[in-house]
Amino acid sequence: MLKDKPFSQACENNKQPILEILADIFEQPGTALEIGTGTGQHAVHFAQHLPHLIWQPSDHPQNYQLCMPWLDATRLSNINQPIALDVTGQDWGQVPAISGAFSANTAHIMAWPEVEAMFRGVGKALPTDGVFCLYGPFSYAGKHTSPSNERFDSHLRAQAPHMGIRDIEDMRRLGEATGLMMEQDFDMPANNRLLVWRRF
Ligand SMILES: C[S@@+](CC[C@H](N)C(=O)[O-])C[C@H]1O[C@@H](n2cnc3c(N)ncnc32)[C@H](O)[C@@H]1O
Repeated sequence: MLKDKPFSQACENNKQPILEILADIFEQPGTALEIGTGTGQHAVHFAQHLPHLIWQPSDHPQNYQLCMPWLDATRLSNINQPIALDVTGQDWGQVPAISGAFSANTAHIMAWPEVEAMFRGVGKALPTDGVFCLYGPFSYAGKHTSPSNERFDSHLRAQAPHMGIRDIEDMRRLGEATGLMMEQDFDMPANNRLLVWRRF
């Protein structure tokens, strides 16, 4: 059944631990924007289990339709059609009024100016007290949290110098510069973190 849909084993592994935190954070009805949706496995899992939310998938214009097979297969009434959103572009105007935002595994793939653009966009789109959750691997004071993250970082930088695991202090400062205060830092399986910012 999965063969006709794009599939990420990592998403299968991390979607439930992420959901357990999102369920507490996104407990009020509202609309959540997902940036860099990818396959759509996260979108479908979170929309299924958080029926009080409208889930708004989005991705770079080259990738935003990748999630369609999952959306078509599940036909959930609380997932909007995906938006073609390049965080560095002018596409933020299409984003509906949102109460929260989520992104997974994007900060180490985007170039740093793209990460900055993502935060600027989220900072503008969120209302006061709105929350942004960002999942992925991060380092602390330049130190990786595991040998496997260190290898992953080297692998990314060898592939393309603009990619790489980001440091938590850079993320914290970027948040503060874009209206977002880092509130929580959850330890997640497989040496990942879930960072939570609140719009001030
Ligand atoms: C490693 S994938 C993560 C996909 C999914 N969130 C997951 O956890 O499997 C990185 C995602 O970031 C998106 N991305 C990269 N640059 C982007 C940009 N400038 N604007 C929006 N999305 C971007 C890619 O299209 C891709 O979907």
